[in-house]
Amino acid sequence: MFKAPRGTADTLPGEQPYWRYIEDRALEICRLYGYSRISTPAFEEAGLFQRSVGEGTDIVSKEMYIFKDRSDNEMALRPEGTAPVCRAYLEHGMDNLAQPVKLFYFADIFRYERPQAGRYRQHHQFGCEAIGDQSPVLDAEVIHMALSFFSALGLTDISLQVNSIGCKECRPRHLQKLIEHYAPLKEQLCADCRVRLEKNPLRLLDCKKTACQSVADLAPRSADYLCQECGQHFGSLQGYLTALGIKFVLNHRLVRGLDYYTKTVFEIQPADGGSQSALGGGGRYDDLIAMIGGKPVPGIGFAAGLERIVLNLKTQGVNVPPAERPAIFIACIGVDARIEAYRLSAALRAEGIPLVMSSGERSLKAQLRHANAAGVKYAAIIGGDEMEAGTVMLRNMQTGEQQETRPEELVAMLKAGE
Ligand code: HAM
Repeated sequence: MFKAPRGTADTLPGEQPYWRYIEDRALEICRLYGYSRISTPAFEEAGLFQRSVGEGTDIVSKEMYIFKDRSDNEMALRPEGTAPVCRAYLEHGMDNLAQPVKLFYFADIFRYERPQAGRYRQHHQFGCEAIGDQSPVLDAEVIHMALSFFSALGLTDISLQVNSIGCKECRPRHLQKLIEHYAPLKEQLCADCRVRLEKNPLRLLDCKKTACQSVADLAPRSADYLCQECGQHFGSLQGYLTALGIKFVLNHRLVRGLDYYTKTVFEIQPADGGSQSALGGGGRYDDLIAMIGGKPVPGIGFAAGLERIVLNLKTQGVNVPPAERPAIFIACIGVDARIEAYRLSAALRAEGIPLVMSSGERSLKAQLRHANAAGVKYAAIIGGDEMEAGTVMLRNMQTGEQQETRPEELVAMLKAGE
């Protein structure tokens, strides 16, 4: 027996109402904020992610699904959605459009992680990118949009964490201070952090191991080493958030797992969860487009994980609208009635009425059992008598009452939603 690969999941019909609910809220938010949909391929040249997300990150060095195609090109299943959208922005000359260009996507994302609750090897993101504007107003708007999305979902028990990690001018000073803080304590650190100290010191700050956390808590804070421009940007952002009444926590250990970020980074977490359970995250990436071969163009965005949203909708007890049920079941008795049942089904569907049509191979009793299982309110039964009279026998599945009905009356009744 084959099984779905480890870390992936089938989303069965019973779960779909959650996904539909999330997608509908996302589409509505994007409409309100003026974002247009974009879709990009599930795989890209591996170099796109190596250059932007960064060779030193876990995502690229340990988790990326990387492979040679049959022409020996090195490709990768997308481990995130921002770099592909920026690649598309450049490739299609979107820098000639009015800026910022605001794009959103739903994308499946692939990361070879250790699977656990809320962490998969294939997950799905709803993401937004606003490219071509460096103003902190846009940072505030993107954060506001992310929060509005979660609040439209009915997820209110969440917290917003914000930080600024500076830019290529000011970050080296902070990194130097971090190294000075960590180097004498190297022996206390976990094996991963010892490597981070050499390769990617900023990532030391979000290690989840207890021993490393106490070192991280006392570490120099990026916000204290910002250059004038980054400092002003961060100050303005906080001003806008406060003016909008948006509550946030300044988290100096929030650094995110992708190298392309500059200045603002943020995450939205369930109030009771740890950082492993972030519902969404994002930030500014003013150098990303230059990293992948374009002129410098600033950008900011965020993405939310749909599987984690579903988990939180369930734990927070949010009711989602159930899937639409068929309005009626069409049953028939005998071979001749089958074609009549098919005709009636086609006529009802043409009127926009969802239904289940029986193939008529089984007994009427078995067909009605099927109708019950389908959860319909009515069944229309067609047999020899009904064919002769040009009618159908309409059965109320709850009460068992039956009444002869003309097809036109049936259409009118079902269209009226009775
Ligand atoms: P990220 O924080 O790596 O950011 O992922 C965004 C969200 O995807 C996370 O907050 C989480 O909800 C979900 N997620 C991540 N990994 C997994 C996983 N293994 N299983 C289930 N859910 C997961 C990015 O990917 C950036 N591209 C976000 C961004 C957009 N930054 C700027 N624009």
